[in-house]
Amino acid sequence: MIRRYSNIDISKHTTFHLPIVVNEFIEYDTVEELIGLVKELKSGDRRFIHLGGGSNMLFNSRYDGAVLHCCCKKIEETGRDVSHVTVHAAAGTIWDDFVKFTVESNLYGAVNLSYIPGEVGGAAVQNVGAYGAEAKDIIDSVEVLDTYDMNCKRLSLESCAYGYRDSVFKHEPGRYIVTGVNFRLGLSECFSLEYGPLAELASDPALTLGKVRSRIIEIRRSKLPEPSELGSAGSFFKNPVVDYSVYENIKKNYPDIPSYPLSDGTVKIPAGWLIERSGMKGYRVGGAEVYTKQCLVIVNTGNATAEDVMTLKELVQDAVKKNFGVEILPEVNIIES
Ligand code: EPU
Repeated sequence: MIRRYSNIDISKHTTFHLPIVVNEFIEYDTVEELIGLVKELKSGDRRFIHLGGGSNMLFNSRYDGAVLHCCCKKIEETGRDVSHVTVHAAAGTIWDDFVKFTVESNLYGAVNLSYIPGEVGGAAVQNVGAYGAEAKDIIDSVEVLDTYDMNCKRLSLESCAYGYRDSVFKHEPGRYIVTGVNFRLGLSECFSLEYGPLAELASDPALTLGKVRSRIIEIRRSKLPEPSELGSAGSFFKNPVVDYSVYENIKKNYPDIPSYPLSDGTVKIPAGWLIERSGMKGYRVGGAEVYTKQCLVIVNTGNATAEDVMTLKELVQDAVKKNFGVEILPEVNIIES
């Protein structure tokens, strides 16, 4: 069923909870309804955007257009061989419901991505990642509506062109609407515990997916704001990737700098660390604040506006550039009004 709401504040449909009024908010349940809606919007020459769980979007206070949202939530096993199971999840499925399903079904590969806010469609666009895992590691293919030719397609993993919080969906914004994702999960025991705070679990002889999930939820709760309590979009910035010489230069003054060396000789540095060392921890503009427990996150302390967040973003970027000569870019998708 299609539900339409005119001139409505959609702040409760985003995790930032910033006030944002849109011309029309349209919820739908099926791919057929989506096709009809996109045809209607295109023929009326109307601007539109698709929203997932709203966990990685920053709108200005008004969006002159229609916002579409998929309400279809479905998770089902679609295939099985001796070593793997394929699972299909509809785009509107809550991401963590999918991860919970894999843990309860004893399927390996998704557990490190526990408790990430958002929906399955958005997770495939964003290539969400945490604790040494990324969505692309378990994605087999992504089902989309190609709004250019209005055909439903299944994109292979290769055609999704995944990178660090990057995908074809970000390179061609507006072209594809994800309708469902096919995942490939392992049947044999395989944990990924390299990330610091998870390493202690490696010594547990009776480790289960449930135990790993509980630990990850505990870590996330201690470092990241609960979207229901404090608005945010998770990591606001991406961790910058710099040349080895830039990293070495910073290390001279900060021997404790955390780093993740990459195979091409470059180095990924945690933006949260750079922001904290630039003196921006807890810095406020209006109701927007650099989160004190994790500087990579900008929080809405209650009455922030998109303007507050954008001003704070610029100040944080300037401070890091001035102190370290490194440019940090937003992970959040900024939507023009
Ligand atoms: N650090 C600081 N100060 C801070 C934040 C971090 O010094 O304010 C230091 C930490 O002490 C640690 C290092 O920076 O040594 C890395 O911090 P952390 O392990 O918390 O991870 P991160 O690099 O800041 C990334 C992802 C998170 C993901 C975590 C865990 C990005 C942009 N962020 O953060 O993803 O949960 O790793 O794997 O890659 C998200 O995308 O929304 C998100 C939360």
